[in-house]
Amino acid sequence: MIADRKDDHVRFAAEQQRDLGGYNQFDDVSFVHHALAGIDRPDVSLATRFGGIDWTVPLYINAMTGGSVKTGAINRDLAIAARETGVAIATGSMSACFADKSLEGTFSVMRRENPDGFIMANVNANASVEKARRAVGLLRADALQIHLNSIQETVMPEGDRSFSFWGPQIEEIVAAVDVPVIVKEVGFGLSRKTVLMLQEMGVRAVDVAGRGGTNFARIENDRRERADYSYLNGWGQSAPACLLDVHGSGIPVLSSGGVRNPLDVARGLALGASAAGVSGLFLRTVLDGGVPALISQISAWLDQLEALMTVLGARTPADLTRCDVLVRGELRAFCADRGIETRRLATRSSSYGTTHETMGSTR
Ligand code: FNR
Repeated sequence: MIADRKDDHVRFAAEQQRDLGGYNQFDDVSFVHHALAGIDRPDVSLATRFGGIDWTVPLYINAMTGGSVKTGAINRDLAIAARETGVAIATGSMSACFADKSLEGTFSVMRRENPDGFIMANVNANASVEKARRAVGLLRADALQIHLNSIQETVMPEGDRSFSFWGPQIEEIVAAVDVPVIVKEVGFGLSRKTVLMLQEMGVRAVDVAGRGGTNFARIENDRRERADYSYLNGWGQSAPACLLDVHGSGIPVLSSGGVRNPLDVARGLALGASAAGVSGLFLRTVLDGGVPALISQISAWLDQLEALMTVLGARTPADLTRCDVLVRGELRAFCADRGIETRRLATRSSSYGTTHETMGSTR
């Protein structure tokens, strides 16, 4: 049953990618072009540090799968691509292997193929402390992701219906595991209120996993005989909306959900994220073109991200948070309703660095 669900998720998520080329709210974020802001390419470093975690690049393959023969093979391929490109990677939810030990290999294959990489285990917020520890141990994981997916569970015919336990459970897991805990959504976004609560629980970082990419309301609707919940297909906040909403909360934030290209990576970093995660789009690539296609896509993205940072005068991912950005459209309306000031973003480079100070003084 779980194995079938895992295969369904992969199939429906890969199909969704066909419809996802168009607008999403990342398009409402644009950089102000400063023609003299550029620096030299060798000055750029993609390394990023957040919550005591060091990554050589601010991009990662986000949680997807494992728990069936087919998805074990996908995890193997994703892990090889992560190893070859140096990006961090997460497994999908490991609950399948708690129910059936014979499925452990469909997750641990990631560590076997990527012995030195940064690997994140993944459990749901119902997992006991003992299961969370087992998940980390099985992968010798460097961090643990806990996913929050109340909308998915609600639409999933066999899903959970009780959510009050999640907060206390997360707190217990954080206290009991000896790796950093990163809490994520699965495509509906994390609000400021949620993030502040998670911060109080001792969570090390949050991954907003916003709306605009893989849509689990749609996936679970597709798995129902009647699409009873199709009116929830637009639920949630986009990644850029979440990043703006949680800005200044003090906890490290990761940008994911609907990231389509290196510019979306740069946009997320400019809105305060320490790194950007991609799931559905990389899944589609690996299913269509195998490991070589994914390696070449990730390498091209990293190369182009460096190129964009060079043009933008950003030596590090964190420097992007001092680049001027404009917020428009639906995203601007969201900010207005949530009391988020967007004008400061459009002129913030004037107080930054020599080049930018010069630009500021000539306005
Ligand atoms: C996911 N996602 C996910 N997340 C999680 O924390 N545990 C999981 O088991 C899964 N399973 C899963 C399966 C498949 C096939 C996909 C495509 C995705 C959610 C994922 O990590 C991410 O939050 C969302 O997919 C949004 O990002 P993208 O796909 O728009 O880049």
